[in-house]
Amino acid sequence: IRRLGVLTSGGDCAGLNAVIRAVVQRAVRTYGWKVLGIKDGTMGLMDRPLQYRELDLETFSGGVLREGGTLLGTTNKGDPFNFPMPDGTFRDRSMDFVDGFNRLRLDALVVIGGDGSMNIVSRLCERGGIGMVGVPKTIDNDVHGTDYAVGFSTACAVVTDALDRLQPTAASHHRVMILEVMGRDAGHIAINSGIAGGADVILIPEVGYTLDGITRKIRGVLNEGRSHALIVVAEGVRTESGEKATVAQADGQIRYGGIGQYLTHALAQRLPDVETRVTVLGHVQRGGAPDARDRMLASSFGVHAVDLVAAGQFGRMVAWQNRGVTSVPLEEATIGPRSLEPDGPLIGVARGLGTYVGEEDP
Ligand code: F6P
Repeated sequence: IRRLGVLTSGGDCAGLNAVIRAVVQRAVRTYGWKVLGIKDGTMGLMDRPLQYRELDLETFSGGVLREGGTLLGTTNKGDPFNFPMPDGTFRDRSMDFVDGFNRLRLDALVVIGGDGSMNIVSRLCERGGIGMVGVPKTIDNDVHGTDYAVGFSTACAVVTDALDRLQPTAASHHRVMILEVMGRDAGHIAINSGIAGGADVILIPEVGYTLDGITRKIRGVLNEGRSHALIVVAEGVRTESGEKATVAQADGQIRYGGIGQYLTHALAQRLPDVETRVTVLGHVQRGGAPDARDRMLASSFGVHAVDLVAAGQFGRMVAWQNRGVTSVPLEEATIGPRSLEPDGPLIGVARGLGTYVGEEDP
């Protein structure tokens, strides 16, 4: 290996720059390789002229480790196998990607992505016979094969901080405060930060709930003498009758959002004597400086990914298991999103605290 490519793909999160830094440190210092950073995910290799920049030790001398976002840029604009063209048609542009890789005379690629984006890039690499190693990142923490993905810890810290900030208002105004958090189809962020932030109700897509169950829990809290309550709801939670709560963005794209609003109205009807307010936290969960855990994870992943490349162990994703860094086959990691197990330990912990998590009555 002499020339290594690195790219970030899919939604940004805290800790991406820390991974890129670790990749460069290891590749340059230990192996003496050149590292090229591909801009805007797969687009950098598909665009002509090619969009990339050389990354060296100097690039990271200014504290990039501490910064949110990705210095390479990223996108989730379209699947290169079925790429949306300006005229409304779709084209297979996978060979543009492969051709871009070859034009840069790269020997291998480190891909920092979530479940969906890593799946796409791994198929692109397969197509071109490109040696790839994956690094899991996503605030949703829904990648198979790893206990943690980069960005998750910081997102949970942001949500916990938000609950710490909502609680005084809830207490002062005797209100029920609902916080809608991200997570796509999984409840990892909601359950982790709901426990950390002392929520009375945590709703996750993996467990069904009833509005009566929530109402009973809130009434119970009020009867205990506390005049306020906190509810955390994951964006992927459906309405009581099972409909998706989605909203259309300005560009017409359908995204999650709306379940918090739905709950606010539903609870206002059931608890007319209690004021209810909703906060939708949104992309705040993805930005900001990575916390200590994400920096540690990102650094471990970056170093290990380069070592896998050096050993010619392609088609693998670095992973965190049993208190250490390891790797798993990419096929195992990209089979689809990893949900929270409904009978998993954290749901038990939340219920042990008296939190309503659905199904079982409080
Ligand atoms: O996958 C990360 C994530 O932030 C999800 O939690 C959320 O549903 C989605 O991305 C938002 O996507 P976008 O930034 O494209 O609106």
